[in-house]
Amino acid sequence: MGDKAASATNAYLMDLWYLATPGHLLTPGRMIGKVFMEQPILLGRDADGAPFALRDLCPHRGVQLSKGVFDGRQITCPFHGWRFDAGGRCAAVPSLVKSQKADIGKICVRTYPCREIQGNIWIYLSEDAPEDAGALPAPFAIPEIGARTYNIATPLVFQTSMDNAVFGLLDPAHGPYVHRNLLWRQPGNLKEKEKAYEPSPLGFTMVRHPPSSNSVIYRALGGDRTTEISFCLPGLRLEHIRVGTHHICNLTAITPIDGARVEVTNFVYWTQGWLTLFKPFLSRFARKFLTQDQWIIGLQNESLAFNPEMMLINDADILQKWYMRIKKEWIAARAERRAFVNPVKPATLRWRT
Ligand code: FES
Ligand SMILES: [Fe+2]
Repeated sequence: MGDKAASATNAYLMDLWYLATPGHLLTPGRMIGKVFMEQPILLGRDADGAPFALRDLCPHRGVQLSKGVFDGRQITCPFHGWRFDAGGRCAAVPSLVKSQKADIGKICVRTYPCREIQGNIWIYLSEDAPEDAGALPAPFAIPEIGARTYNIATPLVFQTSMDNAVFGLLDPAHGPYVHRNLLWRQPGNLKEKEKAYEPSPLGFTMVRHPPSSNSVIYRALGGDRTTEISFCLPGLRLEHIRVGTHHICNLTAITPIDGARVEVTNFVYWTQGWLTLFKPFLSRFARKFLTQDQWIIGLQNESLAFNPEMMLINDADILQKWYMRIKKEWIAARAERRAFVNPVKPATLRWRT
């Protein structure tokens, strides 16, 4: 029943929107220097408050611009003071004397498309800057909750590759073991589950159903509840719970830093005012939950140095197999300049959790 895990290629998936940062961390006038897919990236907000992203290297001599000064309009490089606007255009080269004619308008830093949706800032990562950023498909948005922003954001760095992080995100069987002490399922009360899945434009969805009766958290919400869990490229998982006319959404986004590290950011949104009373508790819960995943993935990562052979078994690891197929198809479709054709077919999967 098992088969060897397709060896992870660790090829970065290009031409997709990735989570750059929870929006509240990017306060006006602040610059955040990050690395995504081994590329240095500067995040900021322009004078109108709109987020922007630039390659975080000065075109003069390569210093990180994010280590310079940003006055809300222009970024001053810390080395020789060249200034750039939020569109990456060079606005000043202080060392030039009047008689030295240099066409500084031609000097620019690469920009990355950047959008803010429901509190999240997304960046479009591609090999070359897209010709028409306005024509790109929209970044991910949670349906049915309008423009509201998240109630809780928990960003963490995991020491692992993108593929292993996504495998962890898709893994239904680790819950009762890794998260056992968090009012979650206990190994002693595993139940057989049967879940129907359908393909979605860039992934797959566990179709809406009443959530597990052996989860204390779900039971605490009361009311008439249903949940839908969806996954899509590049590494986004959304659990969308409806309780009557209300919504609780748990979104996790993974962005690769390099071949051995990823940023994992979890967001919780809710529409019930009373839940806000429990925000300090829920924040601690979310962080604890995520640090448990961080711990087990880090532990696994230590053993990967020994090159273990790995297995994906039916049915609990089928989602990971689907991810590898979807990823392969995404890469092939880009290389062949054709539309992506989702290889996932509707299926019913069974496991005990
Ligand atoms: S390196 Fe940035 S101004 Fe010289
Ligand atoms: Fe987990």
